[in-house]
Amino acid sequence: MSNDIEKVAVLGAGTMGHGIAQVSAAAGYQVAMRDIDDAALEKGLAGIGKSLDKLVSKGRLEQDAADAIRGRITTTTSLEGAIEGADVIVEAIPEKMSLKVETFQALGKHGKADALLATNTSSLSVTEIAAASGAPERVVGLHFFNPVPIMKLLEIVRGLGTSDATIERARAYGDAIGKESVVVNDWPGFATSRLGIILGCEAIRMVEQGVASPADIDKAMKLGYRHPMGPLELTDLVGLDVRLHIMEHLFAELGEQFRPPALLRQMVRAGKLGRKAGEGFYEY
Ligand code: CAA
Repeated sequence: MSNDIEKVAVLGAGTMGHGIAQVSAAAGYQVAMRDIDDAALEKGLAGIGKSLDKLVSKGRLEQDAADAIRGRITTTTSLEGAIEGADVIVEAIPEKMSLKVETFQALGKHGKADALLATNTSSLSVTEIAAASGAPERVVGLHFFNPVPIMKLLEIVRGLGTSDATIERARAYGDAIGKESVVVNDWPGFATSRLGIILGCEAIRMVEQGVASPADIDKAMKLGYRHPMGPLELTDLVGLDVRLHIMEHLFAELGEQFRPPALLRQMVRAGKLGRKAGEGFYEY
């Protein structure tokens, strides 16, 4: 473990939150994972357990180390309890600006005076979230990728008021949890979501236009471009509702190229949300 970090608080125990808690605990930090009810926390812990079991079964982690990681993670429904004494606070709650603003107001008020305040937003304005905290110089975007324990990238997003010292602390935290980082200025969609969403958006338009089947579009990108997953498989993994929400935001901010395809809206209305719903562009 390097730097001045001892405790990490992760707000949200969903797919991203529990992954961030896991990699932080794997780096040796004490972790408090917070969500609004016990059911969400249980689900998050189960996700961590499953991931650790996978790493052990693949011989990438010793059982003792997995137990130690699990032992460093505590859970709570109390926001103030979670952030008490935390040197790094990573927010991974739903992508709604009003919720983020409320949370960062509380972090500015009740967090440690020198805590690094991070948001895992995939496209919302880090600058706007930072303004709510009253300490924008300490706020940074830390954008993780699903599945968090496997994906190497950490996209560090510099808000308008983020200080250089905060960027350096964010980099040190990224290094400590084994991620490679890139630093991107705050702009809608940053670097990754902007490019990733446009590919997904275009693939869905191609299905709409009957250019090829979802399976052939995915196969083309996997074999022709060496993508690990095709854009439609990836949309199923991330969630059609999640991608639609990001597209709507980028359409409003950046314009026509992000206009959500009608097919995507229809599928979301029909409840075909991807893997989590048992059906999206594929059946599971
Ligand atoms: N925890 C631990 N290990 C895991 C895991 C997890 N959650 N998920 C996968 N693994 C391991 C597997 O056990 C396997 O290990 P070995 O190599 O030792 O066998 C390895 O990772 C590869 O997994 P699989 O063999 O199951 O399958 P795969 O080779 O197809 O890889 C994948 C799966 C890593 C998900 C790969 O398909 C991939 O990289 N897909 C693209 C993912 C992607 O683009 N993510 C970004 C989404 S966008 C986002 O997250 C940001 C946003 O803002 C919405």
